[in-house]
Amino acid sequence: MERMEPDYRIGKVLFSGGEIGGRVKTLADQIVSEVSGRDLLVVGILNGAVIFLSDLVRRMPAELNIKMDFMSISSYGNATTSSGAVRILKDVNSDIEGRDVLIVEDIIDTGLTLSYLLNIMYTRKPASLRTCVLLDKREKRKVAAKVDYCGFVIPDVFVVGYGLDYGGKWRHLPDICAVEC
Ligand code: PRP
Repeated sequence: MERMEPDYRIGKVLFSGGEIGGRVKTLADQIVSEVSGRDLLVVGILNGAVIFLSDLVRRMPAELNIKMDFMSISSYGNATTSSGAVRILKDVNSDIEGRDVLIVEDIIDTGLTLSYLLNIMYTRKPASLRTCVLLDKREKRKVAAKVDYCGFVIPDVFVVGYGLDYGGKWRHLPDICAVEC
């Protein structure tokens, strides 16, 4: 018999575009005030972090020499859960040794992705390595991972919008919304 997919739809707005914008500005100010040098390499984790990263860096001053790079990491999960196994699909193009690096993620859940990533990045000897995540689903954590800057702590609800997807959909929504079934 054919299995019917549940009918998922966009639900309640958890954070509006306006709220997110305000929080992103605060995060950018905080990051800039704590970067000791004049250079910062911002590494976005594809695909979810793209919208957050692009808003974040545009809140940073011209005097800070910002470079951007991207990584793509697969977490072998299905659409709504993370299985834990991770692998690099695309590495950064830059040499990070001796540089101040900021990893930007849309969400941390189990912590497996960020913890794996940090372990790899530390072996490359950056001068400093900080992390900035927009959403922290803290109650789902399985392994500790260093989060230096966090936009919002959220409960265990599936969210879409502002870069976050459900099966590739709804990344482009300006708000962050719960998914309902
Ligand atoms: C999300 C997110 C993190 C990871 C966090 O990526 O961007 O990389 O899951 O989960 P964890 O803390 O349980 O490891 P996803 O695999 O959904 O890819 P995407 O960014 O392309 O949507």
